[in-house]
Amino acid sequence: MKRLWFVAGMTVLAGLVLPVLRAQDGAKVFRLDGGDVSYVFGVNDHKELQAMYWGHRLPGSQQFATPRRGQEVASFDGPVTVTPHEYIGWGGVLYVEPDLKVTFPDGNRDLVLEYVSSEVRPNEISIRMKDIERAVFVTLRYRMDSDTGVLAREAVIENRTNGPIKLEEVQSATWNLPRGDRYRLHYVTGRWGSENSLQMRPVSGGKTVLESRRGTTGAQNNPWFMIDDGSSDDQDAGEVWFGALGWSGSWQIAVEQTVVKDVRITGGPNTFDFGYQLKAGESFETPWFYGGYSHRGLGGASRLLHRFEVDNIVPHAPHPKIRPVLYNSWEATTFDVTAVGQMALAEKAAKMGVERFVIDDGWFGQRKNDHAGLGDWYVNKQKFPDGLKPLIEKVHSLGMDFGIWVEPEMVNPNSDLYRNHPDWVLNFTGRPRTEGRNQLVLNMARKDVHDYTLEWLDKLLDDNKIAFLKWDYNRNWSEPGWPAVPIDEQKNVYVDFIRNYYDILEQLRKRHPDVEIESCSGGGGRVDLGVLRLTDEVWTSDNTDAFDRLYIQNGFTYAYTPAVMMAWVTDSPTWVNHRPLSLEYRFLSSMQGSLGIGANLNQWKDEDFATASHMIAAYKDIRETVQRGQLYRLIQPESNEQSVTESVARDGKQTVLFTFLHSSRENYPFPTVRLRGLDENALYAIKPIAGKAVEGTPASATGGYWMYHGIDVALKGDFQAAAFVLTRQ
Ligand code: GLA
Repeated sequence: MKRLWFVAGMTVLAGLVLPVLRAQDGAKVFRLDGGDVSYVFGVNDHKELQAMYWGHRLPGSQQFATPRRGQEVASFDGPVTVTPHEYIGWGGVLYVEPDLKVTFPDGNRDLVLEYVSSEVRPNEISIRMKDIERAVFVTLRYRMDSDTGVLAREAVIENRTNGPIKLEEVQSATWNLPRGDRYRLHYVTGRWGSENSLQMRPVSGGKTVLESRRGTTGAQNNPWFMIDDGSSDDQDAGEVWFGALGWSGSWQIAVEQTVVKDVRITGGPNTFDFGYQLKAGESFETPWFYGGYSHRGLGGASRLLHRFEVDNIVPHAPHPKIRPVLYNSWEATTFDVTAVGQMALAEKAAKMGVERFVIDDGWFGQRKNDHAGLGDWYVNKQKFPDGLKPLIEKVHSLGMDFGIWVEPEMVNPNSDLYRNHPDWVLNFTGRPRTEGRNQLVLNMARKDVHDYTLEWLDKLLDDNKIAFLKWDYNRNWSEPGWPAVPIDEQKNVYVDFIRNYYDILEQLRKRHPDVEIESCSGGGGRVDLGVLRLTDEVWTSDNTDAFDRLYIQNGFTYAYTPAVMMAWVTDSPTWVNHRPLSLEYRFLSSMQGSLGIGANLNQWKDEDFATASHMIAAYKDIRETVQRGQLYRLIQPESNEQSVTESVARDGKQTVLFTFLHSSRENYPFPTVRLRGLDENALYAIKPIAGKAVEGTPASATGGYWMYHGIDVALKGDFQAAAFVLTRQ
């Protein structure tokens, strides 16, 4: 966390606010307050750490008694398994998802954690626990953000025994919800070209596991969830609890309704095929698991997450740089990049107001298509006879900075790197090495692979004035073996790979503090709060169909701020749906996130450049609001013929409204759009960016008028769009 956390407490001593509350009977109760949220937990009558409250902020004067273990239901469900634990080892009678499961060298697999001590600092509470017999210690850390009430939790496992222990399950945290039976779980599913499809299912008896077994985050699920209280379908009403994992490896989030209808959510590294060998004296730090609460619905929960990410997570938080408008040549030239061709595109891009020019795949090794070259990170001399410098200088002379594509964790078997180091990839000795896009995954857990990768990236950035790396990752794992280390340590690959990946990003950022990085995985396959600490933006999807993007982006913004959501305007129709969409529509779709252009400018007409110049200039006026503001989803695309989003600047001065009509029918007008989040007594002037409001719409009106009366947009036809800016007078 880059900001100071504010931890409020019940006991005020000599002007000091202490976050520890001693309950009436002298037991330990801990409380964190931030934003509109209070979080309370304590040590119960059996020295276990028990959840007590998570929800709407409570009055400071509220007292809590010692928490008591749950009551045994019958001989089948003992007290431990029906108690809402903060962090529980697998031992005794426990049938719910444990946080920690250990095998000792002597065959013992029983682990019972008891409270030992606590440390309370202004920005953190840490709780120390220990097994009842063995020297396995667990330190739980809690940090709460004062603005949003988002809580960050992690666990550190210390092996102080004399031998190694095997961590078979090591989760970051368990969140407990108040008992309730109308909860609905919201999450996303997806695949390449179709990320972030919103899903919803009731939280009922049993367990739902969201996960990736792919080695990295994946697009199949995203490590994020929201659970609402089922009281309202209004985006901005009802109670919502949410969480997001800061981990880019295989992960899991288990949402469980227990036999006593308690709801608990446990998340961390995926337990499938897991087994981390922790040697004597070593510690294991889990990923952070972030959790929050809103009484303003799913919309309110997203806004808290966005604010938290911008202010705490992304590089340079709380003042991350505004995303520049970029041009990327991938869809224009694919692998056929040459110095001359890229310079021609750069000239055209610069004229429209583009600020960053990025060359994509194909500039290195013997890379003509996706069959060869990955791993050989030297500049291809046929395509760039004098290296990258002339192109970079040209791009600079046009007033843009320069970015370049890399895919450091991958290798084509047809490459010098693989010919020299066939042992550097994930593999099981003597078994097939399954390729995806003709490539294999380098085992980043290996020190030599880590060092090699860091070295060539560092040199690339030393030798060239590069402002931006698009870091790609175009397949998931297969045969995740690491034959070079002892058998007992081979499964450490699931964690050590990701730690080394993070380390390379961290080292690069330290050595080249001005370089920005995008996380891409064939689209949005590696988006999570772990990678977002180290990358400035993410590629949302390879699917750039502007209508499909309304859905993909809508799902995306449930968890992640539009500030990091890269959205390119590409040519129409795209390969995805063969659907023609106007350039204006495509721009408005992309302007809801971080704007990029990915079209083949060589085929554009004068009027296209004119439209683009106008839209890019308009975007620069609104991007602070879009990237940092409060997002309201007024109409969601999922079940409607329309899609409408509104962003209100943090200072409230500017509001931006995007409206999309998929297809009008039977001469019905567009539904009246009623804005949210304005000051009802202030005056706001309205101006179109594109399209128009119906005749008679006032040029200026009170916030109350725009919110309660609303605005009628003049949209008819198929795939039409309009956008407006409201400025507070
Ligand atoms: C992935 C990315 C694309 C492009 C190609 C290059 O698919 O998502 O944007 O960079 O790789 O091979």
